[in-house]
Amino acid sequence: MVYNYKNTLDTSKDYILPCRKDQLEDVKSFLPIENPDFDGSFSTYQLLYGKGGNRIYLLGIGEDKHSAQIEAAFRKLCFDTKKYWGKSMQVYANDLSKDEVRKAVIGLEMAHYTIGEFRSKKEKQTKLSVTFTSTSSLKIILDEGKYTGETINKIKALVDAPPNIKTPEFLGKWAQKSAESAKYKCTVLKPAELKKQGFEAVLSVGKGSINKPVVIINEYKGNKNKKIDVCLVGKGITFDSGGLSIKPSTNLHYMKSDMGGAAVVLGVVELIAKLKLNINVTGIVCSAENAVDAESYRPGDVINSYSGKTIEIIDTDAEGRLVLADGLSYAVKNIKPEYLIDLATLTGSVVRTLGYHAAGMFTNNADLAETTSKIGYKVHERVWQLPMFEDYESDLHSDVADIRNFSGNPLAGATNAAKFLEAFTEDHDKWMHLDIAGVSFGSSSYAKMKSASGYGIQLITELIKEKTLK
Ligand code: BES
Ligand code: ZN
Ligand code: ZN
Repeated sequence: MVYNYKNTLDTSKDYILPCRKDQLEDVKSFLPIENPDFDGSFSTYQLLYGKGGNRIYLLGIGEDKHSAQIEAAFRKLCFDTKKYWGKSMQVYANDLSKDEVRKAVIGLEMAHYTIGEFRSKKEKQTKLSVTFTSTSSLKIILDEGKYTGETINKIKALVDAPPNIKTPEFLGKWAQKSAESAKYKCTVLKPAELKKQGFEAVLSVGKGSINKPVVIINEYKGNKNKKIDVCLVGKGITFDSGGLSIKPSTNLHYMKSDMGGAAVVLGVVELIAKLKLNINVTGIVCSAENAVDAESYRPGDVINSYSGKTIEIIDTDAEGRLVLADGLSYAVKNIKPEYLIDLATLTGSVVRTLGYHAAGMFTNNADLAETTSKIGYKVHERVWQLPMFEDYESDLHSDVADIRNFSGNPLAGATNAAKFLEAFTEDHDKWMHLDIAGVSFGSSSYAKMKSASGYGIQLITELIKEKTLK
């Protein structure tokens, strides 16, 4: 898709006319009839025809509170009607804020996501050029929107990809290709190297699979004179069968999405590199398949970890925290970032607590919590803080090792997982863990089954911008 801007609307051609709730008056001069049946309710639309038969889509963008999710309205309109569009479309954007324009572009991009990548008959995509009207330059905002929307689509494709294709090695190749095109450095550590460097927890989780684990280290340096601003760590379990503590088979196919955290990390580094931000970001993806096999790690095993701490395995289905432990230890020891943020589809517990509308946020840094929460509302990728009290620590005490990976009780699961991770952060004072199990993959009106949401790309990118550029 190509985006540009110009001063005035050509009313003889097709256009989208965004209209706020009960504000038809504001767009009166662009309407072909005086009183269309339309009230501007959020994400509703109405097709009118101009004198020459050109299409005029009145698009309801609702009230101020809807501004954070305006991409949803553009996405729906474009998804539903794009088969009737020609090669070009205009958007009347004089009354949209810059944030709204960026989100409109994201929505238009998202409308072009095709989940059927593995169908033999492919959907035809026509090249579309969209012109926004504005009296000031929109170049930067349109680029931001396009890159963001494209990245969201790319990470959705990864999360929706089948687990036989999307192996840890595949994620490594994906990262290498991305690094070449967006110009950052990518290192993929394979099993021999993981052994040499001591990624014992990653190796243990991956033992039961023929698809061997990898750790991906993506380094974007936009400012060579500065230290590393941010390190992101992502859980990249390409399929979580539960291992020997095997999961029930109902909905097991959805466990292909257990690399949602990794996808956000891969996407954000790519996006920041494309935007050429003047900052330094490292992304670490710890990827393995949690499979059932004679070689699988077992409940009762005591394993080692990158940090040197020994871990008693109580449940092999609590595997995400194990691979993340190594990623976090590696980051603290070698990257030494100012901000350390991990993302993971970590627990069923967070889904039971917050459902599908907010990620669980865990941090001891009040300022980071406040900023993340604020940005969550702004981009409509919301977070909700859950506790990190010391009292939860005793749940992870082990008789035989330094720590155990599960308390054995089905209580406070998301906090317990976060407390486990904390033990591998060396008390990093700007660390935050986001449990995205409920938000990264779910139902939508765009697919029959659950599918990737793209959650996290806007949240983390905007958070990084806010913390490092302002
Ligand atoms: N990948 C799952 C968490 C999950 C559940 C993600 C539902 C997405 C949707 C994770 O590895 C897991 O199995 N967690 C267990 C931990 C338990 C055994 C301590 C859980 O939350 O039940
Ligand atoms: Zn699991
Ligand atoms: Zn998992």
